[in-house]
Amino acid sequence: MSQSLLYHIYSFLGLLPFWILCTSSTNKCVVRHEVADCSHLKLTQVPDDLPANITVLNLTHNQLRRLPPANFTRYSQLTILDGGFNSISKLEPELCQKLPLLEILNLQHNELSHLSDQTFVFCVNLTELHLMSNSIKIIQNNPFRSLKNLVKLDLSHNGLSSTKLGSQLQLENLQDLLLSNNKINVLRREELDFLGNSSLEKLELSSNPIKEIQSAPGIHYIDLS
Ligand SMILES: *[C@@H]1O[C@H](CO)[C@@H](O)[C@H](O)[C@H]1NC(C)=O
Ligand SMILES: *[C@@H]1O[C@H](CO)[C@@H](O)[C@H](O)[C@H]1NC(C)=O
Ligand SMILES: *[C@@H]1O[C@H](CO)[C@@H](O)[C@H](O)[C@H]1NC(C)=O
Ligand SMILES: *[C@@H]1O[C@H](CO)[C@@H](O)[C@H](O)[C@H]1NC(C)=O
Ligand SMILES: *[C@@H]1O[C@H](CO)[C@@H](O)[C@H](O)[C@H]1NC(C)=O
Repeated sequence: MSQSLLYHIYSFLGLLPFWILCTSSTNKCVVRHEVADCSHLKLTQVPDDLPANITVLNLTHNQLRRLPPANFTRYSQLTILDGGFNSISKLEPELCQKLPLLEILNLQHNELSHLSDQTFVFCVNLTELHLMSNSIKIIQNNPFRSLKNLVKLDLSHNGLSSTKLGSQLQLENLQDLLLSNNKINVLRREELDFLGNSSLEKLELSSNPIKEIQSAPGIHYIDLS
């Protein structure tokens, strides 16, 4: 074997560990049991090489602008998706269609401003929906109508001026409705009619400019402080 060939083999072997280090560091998510923690990685895309059997995916504190449904096809076992602290401004209904077992969806601290009647139409297994600190100023029609299993809805720190979240009866299993830090200035019974005789236990309304309460609705606990 010539000296130069040996030299090439040695230099290749010398580079090998470096090459392995580089390729394996493209995805630094930490996967333990069926939980994938991809938080704080400056991600702009949803990782596509995590184990397909994960049930929890943490994408918080990244630079995601969307959660493209196609990128979640692989993770159909997810029960918890945490997408908080990103720049997500649009949600597609097909996301929940890809994730039929999803129970907790957290999108706090994002840039959502519009929810349509279709947005959550496939999210029937959701028990918690966290939309705190987005830019939702108005709820039109009935975006939460399909959420028959929802127990907790957090819409605090948005720009809502009314408690009215729909025009039809819905959310029959809701227990906690968090609306603090919005711009609600009048509390009207009819603006809570969409809850019908729901099981609501807590309505959190602190830090709203409420000036007038027009007949308190029949809810066990209203937190105005
Ligand atoms: C999930 O997948 C990984 C490999 O992708 C495997 O090691 C693990 O045993 C699987 N967990 C279950 C509960 O099947
Ligand atoms: C995701 O990670 C963030 C930051 O570490 C943490 O605060 C949050 O609780 C995690 N979410 C879940 C669902 O575990
Ligand atoms: C995931 O998203 C990226 C762009 O964000 C795209 O190029 C890629 O094809 C997607 N993967 C799947 C499996 O759809
Ligand atoms: C909701 O989750 C259960 C399992 O917990 C599953 O059997 C059911 O199919 C899911 N609902 C839908 C619409 O996929
Ligand atoms: C709510 O309950 C009251 C009395 O318990 C009943 O009269 C009313 O019809 C109920 N409304 C709905 C929408 O179920």
